[in-house]
Amino acid sequence: MTTIKVQADRPGVKINPAMWGIFFEDINFGADGGLYAELVKNRGFEFPDPLMGWHKLSPSKARGQIVVRDDDPFNAANPRYLRIESQGTDVFGVANEGFRGMGVRRGEAYHFSVRVRNVSGAPAMRVCLYSGDGALLETVQLDTFSAGWEKRTAVLHPSATDAKAKLCLLLDGPGAVDIDFVSLFPENTWKKRPGGLRADMVQALADLRPGFLRFPGGCIVEGSELDKRYQWKKPIGPVEGRPLRINRRIYAFVHRPPPADFQTFGLGFFEYFQLSEDIGAEPLPILNCGMACQFNSGELVPLAELEPYIQDALDLIEFANGPATTEWGARRAALGHPEPFNMKMLGIGNEQWGPQYIERLAPFLQAIRARYPQIQLIASCGPLPDDERFEYLWPKFRELKVDIVDEHCYARPSWFFENTHRYDSYDRNGPKVFFGEYAAQSDKMVSVENRNNLECALSEAAFMIGMERNADVVRMASYAPLFSHADAWQWTPDLIWVDNLNLVPTANYYVQQLFCLHRGDETVPTELSGVEQSQAVFAGAVRDNKTGEIILKVVNPGDGPLDAQILLAGEIQPEATEIVLAGSSPTERNSFSRPNQIHPVEAAVTVSGGAFTRRFQPRSLTILRFKGS
Ligand code: AHR
Repeated sequence: MTTIKVQADRPGVKINPAMWGIFFEDINFGADGGLYAELVKNRGFEFPDPLMGWHKLSPSKARGQIVVRDDDPFNAANPRYLRIESQGTDVFGVANEGFRGMGVRRGEAYHFSVRVRNVSGAPAMRVCLYSGDGALLETVQLDTFSAGWEKRTAVLHPSATDAKAKLCLLLDGPGAVDIDFVSLFPENTWKKRPGGLRADMVQALADLRPGFLRFPGGCIVEGSELDKRYQWKKPIGPVEGRPLRINRRIYAFVHRPPPADFQTFGLGFFEYFQLSEDIGAEPLPILNCGMACQFNSGELVPLAELEPYIQDALDLIEFANGPATTEWGARRAALGHPEPFNMKMLGIGNEQWGPQYIERLAPFLQAIRARYPQIQLIASCGPLPDDERFEYLWPKFRELKVDIVDEHCYARPSWFFENTHRYDSYDRNGPKVFFGEYAAQSDKMVSVENRNNLECALSEAAFMIGMERNADVVRMASYAPLFSHADAWQWTPDLIWVDNLNLVPTANYYVQQLFCLHRGDETVPTELSGVEQSQAVFAGAVRDNKTGEIILKVVNPGDGPLDAQILLAGEIQPEATEIVLAGSSPTERNSFSRPNQIHPVEAAVTVSGGAFTRRFQPRSLTILRFKGS
C-alpha cells in the first residue's frame, strides 16, 4: 500500500513568504481591452491607422465628413485628433467599437469624457450607447462648446446589460467640432479609482493571495527592436501624455489573427506598483537589458551605449524606494504615493541568452550592487529549461554571483510529472531559482489547441510540490501567461479567461490559489513508499508556524482512487480540514458556460492518531490541514 510518511519531528527548510506569485504581461488583451478598464479603443486616434476602432455614422440624409488632423493639438505628445463636420441635414458622427465591443451593465454608471473644441457653427453632441444589436441603451447631450480645447464629461446609465455595446458621438445641427481622448470608464473599477482597473479581474488576482507580481512581461519587455522595448519612464504621469506603443503581439504570432493590440499605457509602472501593493504582492519589475527579443531582431545596444539602460534601472529603484526628496522619489510622491513601494527585487532581461547577454548583464549587476546592494537581482536563463542556451548561462550566473535565476518552461504535462525531482540535486550554495514562466501545454508550445484542462493543472500541482520541497533553492514561481480575452487571444493556455463581462478561473488558477493559501512557513520532510508501478503519486508537506498546522498536499493524477496510509510523526488532533480539487476526466476544464465546473471543495474530516488511511479521489489535488495537539 502507498505510504506517506510525514516527518514533522525532523527539520525542514524555510519557505519564502512570497514564493507563489503572478506573471503579468499585456498579451491576449491583458492590459488594453482587459485589466485596464478603458472601454474606448484608440481613444486618442494615435494608432498607426488613426481610425482603427472608429467608423463614420452617417444616416441617409446626413451630409458631413470626418478628418484626422494634428495641427494645434490638445496634447503634443499625442497630436492626432478628429474633426467632425456636419451640414446639419441629420445627425452625423462616429462610433467606437470598443475592444471587441464594450461590456456594460444595467444599473451601473459609466463615466464619459472627451476633449472637444468648437470649430464652426454651434452643433450639439449626442453621446449614445447602443447595444451590439442596435438598441439604444442611453443618450445624453453636450452642447455650447468653446473655441479652445476643454474637457467635457457625462455619466451614462445603460438601460440593459450588453457585452458588445458601442459608443456613438453624433453632431446635431450644422457646424464642426474637434474631438480627442474620448474615454468611457465604468465607475465600478477596482477600489472605484477613476480611470482604474477592471474590478473583477483585480479581485481574481487578490483572491489568489499572490506573493509577488512580476511585470510588465514577458517578451514585451524586450520589444522586437530596441526602439519598441518597454521604457518605464514614458508611461507615467497624466494618461493623455503617455505615448502609444505597438504591441509586438500583433506580428509575433502568425498562427492567430492579431487582436489590433496597441499599448496605450493607461497601465504603467506606477499602476503596477500600486496594484502590487493593493493585492499584497511584492513588486517585481523586469527591465530591458539592452537586447531586443531574440526571437525577433535580437538587436543589441553597443556596450558603449548601455549606460542609459543601466540608468533607467537605477532610476527605477529610486522611483520605487527613494525618499520624496530624491528626483524620482519626488515623481512617485507627486503621483500620490509619498511612501516608498519597498521594492526588493529587479529582473534584468527577459528570456535572453548567449554571451551578448552576459556582457550586458555584468555592468548592470556592478552598477546596481554598488548603489543598492540590498536589491535582489534576477537574471533570465533563456526560453527553455534544459537546452544548450540554458547550460551555457548557469555557470556564468554562478561566476557573476547572480542572486536569482529566472527559468522558463512551457511543456507537455508529462514533463511536469517527470521532473518533480528537478531541484533535489541543485547546488544549495549557488544562485536561487525563480521558475518565472511555466504552464503545462496539453498539445505543444504555441499551439492553438492547448487547453487549461485538469491534467495540465494536476501536473503543475505535482511539479509545485517538488518546488516546495526544494524551497531552499526555489525562491519563487509564477504561471504564465495570466489573462486571456475569449475574443482576442493569441496564446493559450492562460490562467484566467475573460470576456467583456465575465471571468473564468481555470483549474490551473485554483491550483495556484491552493498553493498560495496553504503555503506554510517551512517544509516538512515527507517520504513516499509502497507506490505501485502502475500508479503515480506526488506528496509533500509544510508547517504553518502561526497555527502549528501540518499541511499535506497530495496529487493523484490517476483514473482510480488512491488509498494511502499516512504516518504522521507527533501528536495530532482528530479534527482536520480537507480541500479537494478534482474532476471527472483529464480533459475537463472550466468554461464561460460552466465557469465553476472544477473548483476546490472544503470539508471537515476526522483522523485518528498518527497513522491512518485516506482515500484520495481520482484526478485530484488534495490538501489536508492537521492541527497539532
Ligand atoms: O508567456 C508568453 C511568452 O512566453 C512570454 O512573453 C515570453 O517571455 C515567453 O516566451
